[in-house]
Amino acid sequence: MTDVPADRIDDLVRAAHDARTRAYAPYSEFTVGAAVLAGDRVYSGCNVENASYGLSICAERVAATTAVAAGERRIDAVAVVGSANRPTPPCGACRQFLNEFGPSMPVAVETPDGVREVWFLDAILPHAFGPEFLE
Ligand code: THU
Repeated sequence: MTDVPADRIDDLVRAAHDARTRAYAPYSEFTVGAAVLAGDRVYSGCNVENASYGLSICAERVAATTAVAAGERRIDAVAVVGSANRPTPPCGACRQFLNEFGPSMPVAVETPDGVREVWFLDAILPHAFGPEFLE
């Protein structure tokens, strides 16, 4: 899928808001929800922190690994909702992680109050290193 319909992006953003309610972020208190569209299904995740801080994992990677563990190998879009009062972009590590499964996917980011921006992954991760370099 190259062109993701607006209503599917809306579904994804809704799922990201919902996933954020389950974030485990007692240390940063910055809660994040994410959802990915893969195989016309929605897979969601939240950030999960740890007392050993460096082991914490971002919402985007939880959503993506959930999709891959369900058998998906291609991600068509991602939505992210963070606590900040401006749309929270995926961190650099998550951009790289998502690139593996959909280098030009739309990235919809929204505030808790519904202020949304939509970017494309290849615009926010230029000159990406991906699986093609290992061929
Ligand atoms: N976090 C995410 O889950 N996704 C992002 O894109 C940015 C950061 C999480 C990691 C950590 O649990 C908290 O937000 C503060 O960095």
